[in-house]
Amino acid sequence: MCVSREAFRYNFQFLILTLAVRIWVPAERKRIIATLGLKPGDKVLDHCCGLGGNLSPLCAAIAPGGSVEAMDHSPDMIEASTRLAKRRRLPVTVVQADAMQLPYPDETFDGVMHTGAINQFGDQRQKAMDEILRVTKPGGVIAIQDEGMSEEMTHTRFGKFLIKQNAMFLDPIPTELVPDGVEATVGRVMAGLFYNIVFRKPEIGGQKPEVGDQQPGA
Ligand SMILES: C[S@@+](CC[C@H](N)C(=O)[O-])C[C@H]1O[C@@H](n2cnc3c(N)ncnc32)[C@H](O)[C@@H]1O
Repeated sequence: MCVSREAFRYNFQFLILTLAVRIWVPAERKRIIATLGLKPGDKVLDHCCGLGGNLSPLCAAIAPGGSVEAMDHSPDMIEASTRLAKRRRLPVTVVQADAMQLPYPDETFDGVMHTGAINQFGDQRQKAMDEILRVTKPGGVIAIQDEGMSEEMTHTRFGKFLIKQNAMFLDPIPTELVPDGVEATVGRVMAGLFYNIVFRKPEIGGQKPEVGDQQPGA
């Protein structure tokens, strides 16, 4: 069965990224997920899953015994992710849903992984984050990556090219999404093209556990 046009365009962008900055995106996803401190048996949400690029490394991180839920609002992306999960026999349930109204009960997940949509949410970003926080268990890890270029990268030819295509690469890192009083690890990943914010939802009345050894990217 053929991949939709949207899915094809999206995959093509990652191919260009891979060739231009010489990073292998699946390996980079694996590296980021390995820093989150997920454990066998954990239940994790791939938030705005797209084509499912985070699904294999998430499943590896929570095996054995864990499970991954994936959501996206695009039927094309749901179809692509469902097919990928089936082909790779991953323990994933994929549902079509809006990030502003997640179809999960409160405190469902040990971890929520988000890559690539939150910048587009504009003034709805906080609403999306409130939903992520609602469905995360106290002490659960939340990781958010999206376009956000390092200063160094903005001076490169490729960086300038990307900014012309998508001005969101210049957006400041939205650290205001981290709840007050919560310590976050903030860095760059994907060769300095994306920001990465990682933090844990505070335990109620308790101490915040620390997030693992996430390395800022190049
Ligand atoms: C750039 S893609 C990233 C996909 C995936 N996370 C990845 O890392 O490959 C952004 C995804 O967010 C989804 N999306 C955008 N707005 C959304 C919303 N309000 N609710 C759910 N999904 C949304 C899009 O359909 C798209 O699949």
